[in-house]
Amino acid sequence: MAKPLLAVIVGSNRRESINRKLAQAMMKLGADKFDARIVRIDDLQMYNQDNEGNMPAEVVRFKDELARADGVLIVTPEHDRSIPAVLKNAVDWGARPWGKNSWAGKPGFITGTSPGAIGSALAQQHLRSVMTGLGMILLGGEAYVTFKPNLVDDHGNVGDEATRKFLQGFLDQFAFLVGRLTVEPARSAA
Ligand SMILES: Cc1cc2nc3c(=O)[nH]c(=O)nc-3n(C[C@H](O)[C@H](O)[C@H](O)COP(=O)(O)O)c2cc1C
Repeated sequence: MAKPLLAVIVGSNRRESINRKLAQAMMKLGADKFDARIVRIDDLQMYNQDNEGNMPAEVVRFKDELARADGVLIVTPEHDRSIPAVLKNAVDWGARPWGKNSWAGKPGFITGTSPGAIGSALAQQHLRSVMTGLGMILLGGEAYVTFKPNLVDDHGNVGDEATRKFLQGFLDQFAFLVGRLTVEPARSAA
């Protein structure tokens, strides 16, 4: 049976993003449970309602990738105690046009890291509020990760054992949630 397909969104467009490194380490950590792919958001133009009738190719691709996914993992930094603009832009494109909300009914898991003590907590809380409003079915709990130099080691694994166990627990719960909400996909029969 095919593993559930996970769309992974990184809320940063920075080349050396610590959240992208964490996302990739989590993809390795959950590789036995998910077939995970990073979905680009850094090439989406600034949302403009005028363009909804003729959506840019990158937006069409983005929404297609969301449509195919059984679940969405969002790994985000915090910018000015809230959601980074590049991520909010992607959220808005995903939500539109009216009647074509890509987020509704999708299982979602939100996490993220920052060097600050509260590990992107406020960005995650704001994002939870937005995504719940858009109809995503979010995994409960609080997955705030304070960035430390060994968070992701030279082999791309979560370096700290306690953090690895902490995130593994969330990934296990998320696999369970996605499994409960996913009707056996036509994808696996194709
Ligand atoms: C515009 C901006 C605002 C930021 N605001 C916060 C903040 O509110 N809280 C926080 O913990 N870190 C904040 N930071 C620091 C980020 O946590 C840090 O740059 C981190 O590396 C961003 O994640 P990334 O490497 O995945 O892009 C901010 C950084 C930038 C560039």
